[in-house]
Amino acid sequence: MTEFFITTPIYYVNDVPHLGHAYSMINADAFARWHRGIGDEVFFLTGTDEHGQKVADSADAASMSVTEWTDLYAQRFKDAWEKLDIAYDDFIRTTEKRHEVAVRKFLQALYDNGHIYLGTYTGSYCVSCEAYYSANDAVDGLCPVHRRPLIEMEEENYFFRLSAFQDQLVKWYDDDPTAVFPDFRRNEALSFIRGGLEDVSISRTSLSWGIPLPWDERHVCYVWFDALINYLTAIGYDGAGYERFWEHSHHLVGKDIIRFHCVWWPAMCMAAGIAPPQKVLVHGWLLVKGEKMAKSGGNGVDPIDLAGIYGADAVRYYLLREHALGADGDFSIEALEHRYNVDLANNIGNLLSRVTNVVDKSLGGVAPRATGNVLDFAEVKEHVDRASRAWSAFGSAQVLEEVQLLVRMANAALEERAPWKLRDANEIGAILGDALEILRLVAILVSPVLVESAPKIFAAIGLEMSAISSSYSQALEVGLYQGGMTIAKAAPLFPRKGQARAR
Ligand code: MSP
Repeated sequence: MTEFFITTPIYYVNDVPHLGHAYSMINADAFARWHRGIGDEVFFLTGTDEHGQKVADSADAASMSVTEWTDLYAQRFKDAWEKLDIAYDDFIRTTEKRHEVAVRKFLQALYDNGHIYLGTYTGSYCVSCEAYYSANDAVDGLCPVHRRPLIEMEEENYFFRLSAFQDQLVKWYDDDPTAVFPDFRRNEALSFIRGGLEDVSISRTSLSWGIPLPWDERHVCYVWFDALINYLTAIGYDGAGYERFWEHSHHLVGKDIIRFHCVWWPAMCMAAGIAPPQKVLVHGWLLVKGEKMAKSGGNGVDPIDLAGIYGADAVRYYLLREHALGADGDFSIEALEHRYNVDLANNIGNLLSRVTNVVDKSLGGVAPRATGNVLDFAEVKEHVDRASRAWSAFGSAQVLEEVQLLVRMANAALEERAPWKLRDANEIGAILGDALEILRLVAILVSPVLVESAPKIFAAIGLEMSAISSSYSQALEVGLYQGGMTIAKAAPLFPRKGQARAR
């Protein structure tokens, strides 16, 4: 047992959440649930990023006060996460007092350590990114991400001496080759660092919506500088939570915010005199017909609507199964329905109904125990071990692939031996007992994903999931299903859906 601190980015409250945001959340939630399951002390943090120009402009455009606006939109994120069964331990809003206190303390440490100076910023800014761009970054004078006009700015700003941390950053990457996952993202960050770093502007005077700098209140902190510090605020910067969780920190972020998390943030930590984060996990984008899903792109899918139609479990399963962490992946309703119908309804759901049905009809409802006489338990163990290792290595797509292989083993044995046609109770029991064991193991392995259905599978085979909470490693030993309990034919877990029905 150890500590596991996992964070998501904190989301801008300029608009409502879409499925791209949900993708980060579902990944983080599944990792958090897996680690709770194996007995780790987990702290799962998410929240909202509420300062900066973009949020202030959105409130203005709606003729609302920024506070009214941020309250409303922060709640929309909370509502979406509730609908998707996201079980975070803390939800931080950057407008909270505790955050202001931590930010001012962190900035003061940087200032006192001599890493901040006053200068003049001349250059371009993209409000959608809340990021500064040099002439080289701009594409035809437009933001390289949003293809929107950049705002020309000239302001007296405080700067953070990022350039002074180049060597220390390279050393950090060299010392811990696994600090950024996956590897190709690590290389991307490292080559950016090796290419030379410029100091960054960390304050604004043209904007008042932000946290004032402790040594010069005419300036408010640049939104990214304030936002990154949330990871420390929430665990209690300088307190017991920090001592306990910081060295176990895992930041899950999208590929568009690598520069902030893999370059700035570790350097900011070094400048403040604390250790850089333990790991940054970088995921790709959810695309729609090849384009990034985004509210501004008009292709944002509402996670609340989707969960309403297919259920949170199906949305979670589809996103984790289809999109390995790191790569971009296309979203489509057809693919979601296909996964739902094939993996969930036909494979897992069908296995459960067949097995419980035959126990009910041929064995008087009394569940037989697992023996390993029908299925090769050594092979089962290999799949289970690979799946457990994949969970601990952030490979949820691989976990779910192993799960499907297990289900297929059991379904194939049922097809081949057709226990519903047999008469000998021992023979029937041997087949069903092993299939029940597969269902038990599968339910544990998918419980971080199918959070509503996994306990139902457990209950349907006469077990209680709460009895194994935080002891997944022991419960995943193969062959533990004892049988003896009375079970009934299970109600269908995943009624078939939509277009893909005909396939
Ligand atoms: N507020 C900053 C993060 C500060 S963290 C200290 C921010 N917010 S955001 O709302 O614009 O994006 C939050 C996260 O959502 C990012 O990791 C981003 O990559 C992710 N996604 C936004 N659209 C996405 C997709 N279409 N697909 C996957 N993730 C996407 O950046």
